[in-house]
Amino acid sequence: MAALGAGLLATGLASPAGATDDDGASTTVEPFGTTPEGTSVERWTLANGEMTVRVLTYGGVIQTLEVPDADGEVGNVVLGFPDLAGYVSDDDPYFGALIGRYGNRIAGGRFTLDGTTYQLPLNDGPNTLHGGPQGFDDQVWQATPVGDDDVAALRLELVSPDGDQGFPGTLTTTVTYSLDADSRLSIHYAATTDAPTVVNLTNHTYWNLAGEGSGDVYDQTLQIHAGAYTPVDETLIPTGEIAPVAGTPFDFREPTAVGARIREDDQQLLYGQGYDHNWVLDRTDDGAREGSDSEDALEEAAVVHDPGSGRTLTISTTEPGLQFYSGNFLDGTLVGTGGHVYRQSDAVVLETQHFPDSPNHPDFPSTVLRPGEVYDSTTVFALAH
Ligand code: BGC
Repeated sequence: MAALGAGLLATGLASPAGATDDDGASTTVEPFGTTPEGTSVERWTLANGEMTVRVLTYGGVIQTLEVPDADGEVGNVVLGFPDLAGYVSDDDPYFGALIGRYGNRIAGGRFTLDGTTYQLPLNDGPNTLHGGPQGFDDQVWQATPVGDDDVAALRLELVSPDGDQGFPGTLTTTVTYSLDADSRLSIHYAATTDAPTVVNLTNHTYWNLAGEGSGDVYDQTLQIHAGAYTPVDETLIPTGEIAPVAGTPFDFREPTAVGARIREDDQQLLYGQGYDHNWVLDRTDDGAREGSDSEDALEEAAVVHDPGSGRTLTISTTEPGLQFYSGNFLDGTLVGTGGHVYRQSDAVVLETQHFPDSPNHPDFPSTVLRPGEVYDSTTVFALAH
């Protein structure tokens, strides 16, 4: 599975419009509107076996992901907007988007690298969240179909100039979505820089295995292979402690209903208004990135199961951390793809990542990327029913 991704070659492309093979994988494209700045946006459809995924060049967004349930009924299991206006709006809570340059928070939007202190724009109270106000989720990526007869795949590329959102170095990022015939969606991230910088890329898909817009996910079970998590302060910045989950509402080592403990009187849950924390994944390696983490193995991180539909999502990653965000700030003001209003905990977001605020925590696995090194990270979402 780890081999899926950037290594795929663009073979068998029928036309500039995309690669299609009626017997198996297909990758097709259609227009999806124009940004307020006048840039055209495309929507790519990756189809293979039982699964269909729609990806926008705006933010690299996974707009819809359709899979059958146990009765063979096909449904969309991710939250999103029906049109570009929703994604361009400041109210978009990163539905399905690629997150960069730095997933989650950097305290005070400030960090020091090689003796130079960088100040980023703040967009989350006193902190910088998800790469700043115009992060990778707000950029239009360049798309190229790279699939073949067996795999539907799309490569997205973005060059972020030196100083973009306050970060040093020109960062060249390639993200490849690959969908195989067994309903496995792989996301491969690669990046290089021309000056020392920090990088932490992820995807911000909101999952509801019972179906987008079907209500809360409290009865769906979650298992996270993690014996520890990183507690936060009241602004959701890690305190630096690596705390055991045992005996806390953060213990998901066994499959547990998302809602079972979410309203317990626990200071950490109160800070997050639910779950909004980074779990320290149990890994056989340490997940640390030293120049490149391409040697890190793809290891199972989490499993979500919906007893009602019979759908199961299994997440594997090369990353050391997983942010579990229980959609706490969905407040009934957004209307999704199916015309339903989204409310608190209508989805789980499971972001594979390095830990939040790592540039300010030398004890955390490093997020530093230097010229000559390749940032290399893979996450696989496997759907079953
Ligand atoms: C963060 C939340 C934030 C959300 C934005 C999550 O990754 O951890 O605190 O509100 O993204 O939708």
